[in-house]
Amino acid sequence: MPGYELIGAEEQAEIDDIFKHGGVLFRHSFDHLRQDRWKVRDFEREFAKSVGMPHALAVTSGTAALRVALAVLDIKPGDEVITQSFTFVATVEAIIEAGAIPVCAEIDGTLNMDPESLKSLITPKTKAVIAVHMLGTPARLFEIDDICRKNNLTLIEDAAWGCGGSLDGRPLGTWGQMGTYSFDFAKTMTTGEGGMIVFQNENDYKFAAAWHDHGHENNPSVPRWEDTRASSGFNFRMNELQGAVGLAQLKKLSHVVTMQRKNRDSMWSAIQNLRGIIPREVPAGSHETADALIFSVADNATALKCRGALLAEGLSTKILPEAVTWHFAGTWTHMPQLVARHGGDLGKAFGPSRARLERAVSLPVVVKMDETVPARLHTALSKVLN
Ligand SMILES: Cc1ncc(COP(=O)(O)O)c(C=O)c1O
Repeated sequence: MPGYELIGAEEQAEIDDIFKHGGVLFRHSFDHLRQDRWKVRDFEREFAKSVGMPHALAVTSGTAALRVALAVLDIKPGDEVITQSFTFVATVEAIIEAGAIPVCAEIDGTLNMDPESLKSLITPKTKAVIAVHMLGTPARLFEIDDICRKNNLTLIEDAAWGCGGSLDGRPLGTWGQMGTYSFDFAKTMTTGEGGMIVFQNENDYKFAAAWHDHGHENNPSVPRWEDTRASSGFNFRMNELQGAVGLAQLKKLSHVVTMQRKNRDSMWSAIQNLRGIIPREVPAGSHETADALIFSVADNATALKCRGALLAEGLSTKILPEAVTWHFAGTWTHMPQLVARHGGDLGKAFGPSRARLERAVSLPVVVKMDETVPARLHTALSKVLN
């Protein structure tokens, strides 16, 4: 979660560099003013290098990143895109915005996409799969990637929470044909608002780069107002201020993940022996970003009691169990596309996912943890679990 905790002199210096050299805030053009400062372009190059991908495109948010990635696919009316029932509402919003029908798979003990559920939902209309690494734990990518390959489906990873994590040594976001990231204020690195897409294929990158910029091909032989057009598109361009902050934050990412993992481990050590506490399942070979520490208890009543005890001790939970509404498809009655698919009543949909989520408790993990937290977690939770 806490790129924001480390915002400081380095981010300020990158911003100052823009203002000391012409103050151009637009990612394109103004070459005569900008004294060779290209913050968004540099950020894209450094980000791509950091995950070992050939192409990266910076955009205005993680939601925009998903929307632009879906624009690359030739989605036709009636096409379906499968994601998971436990994700932020943005994943499904992007699918709907792209003109596809959202289909949500059940989650398994990882609280990410259940590969068996994914298999059961594939139809001739399925176009793509968006696997999400919720709260920094990798989805079962070996299985999901294999299913996508066998069924000729495009895999996109929503790595909004996965920035800085990996599975089997391969960075999250780089397993799929495209991977998307969010740099909003709650993520491992932040640009205030912002996002990134990484691409395996140059053609996908070129299409997305034009589409996120009204179709501009940024043809170097003509001025921008005479530019050639690849397609219709939209405006999801990142600006130079965000690019500058991103450059500084990227250098801090591995420290953020290291500290989060260390703090998550000491929180877990303090509570792992409590009665009835079950850790979240983690795929073998995972290097989690450890944005949250998640465990399950016997039932929803116990999870809510845990929350109450944590609050009384001056601690908090994160998303689970109380704030699942923005993150669970079974509550999105404002999305007619989902409601229609589930016979008009989402209340009965996603039973297995609901049963897992209502028993889960998620604790926020930060970089600069107060060292009394592990002991206080133990004090609070042992009132309920012993
Ligand atoms: C899984 C997931 N996808 C996408 C997003 C959207 O990111 P943004 O807030 O940058 O639009 C979020 C944001 O929390 C998220 O959790």
